[in-house]
Amino acid sequence: PALEKDFLPLYYGWFLSKRSSENLRKTGQAFLDELASIKVFKKESNKHFGGAIEDPKMKLDLTSYFVKRPPGVLHCTTKFTDFGKAPGSEDYAQQEAVKSSYGKAFFLTISALFITPRTAGARVELSEQQLLLWPGDVDVLPPAGNLPKGSRAHVTLGCASGIEAVQTGLDLLEFVKLEKAGNKGEEVGEIGGGKLLSYGNGMWMIVLSKKIEVRAVFGGYYG
Ligand code: A2P
Repeated sequence: PALEKDFLPLYYGWFLSKRSSENLRKTGQAFLDELASIKVFKKESNKHFGGAIEDPKMKLDLTSYFVKRPPGVLHCTTKFTDFGKAPGSEDYAQQEAVKSSYGKAFFLTISALFITPRTAGARVELSEQQLLLWPGDVDVLPPAGNLPKGSRAHVTLGCASGIEAVQTGLDLLEFVKLEKAGNKGEEVGEIGGGKLLSYGNGMWMIVLSKKIEVRAVFGGYYG
């Protein structure tokens, strides 16, 4: 007998190839290491990253600060369906684009890396075709409201102790909200691979001078 209903995953998203995943993790590491060693960051970081450095010569270990790292290959969540319990899950799962793209390979573009006192992530710039797989109800940050479609697209690289992965997307929306309000970040210099911007409150972004392409397969994660 046929199943009455499709069994929905915990979430849908793009799952990076093993190689792309390893490379992006390495790039993220290098960014954290370099950020931790620069003066302006050290000066600020006492306030926002646990005050681990009294001695300005000491380096804050951001890798151990973002202690919760995603197991396995990295991914970019499109829709968190929570096995069908999340609002809008069925509608999303039934979309033609979602069904026809399931199991298909894509190239995703990483345009920036960011950290906040809560999360570290990579910003994903979606193409028109990829935006067809992006849900209409996730680029919302109360009370700012709706942000442009795809604003939230990201890959979580790490979370601080006690922080859930869902926070990374919300943090990215916070950057977008600030950008929209005219705060383009204070340019504090160039570090390996890009322009370093400080948005205040421990929010930092490096805009990559050379965007990173990663290979990924669209699908569902069942846990
Ligand atoms: P993200 O996509 O930012 O990494 P968990 O391990 O906490 O169950 O989460 C599994 C994945 O689903 C993670 O990738 C996580 O965040 C994402 N996620 C968890 N909860 C939500 C939510 N409420 N809304 C959107 N994405 C979520």
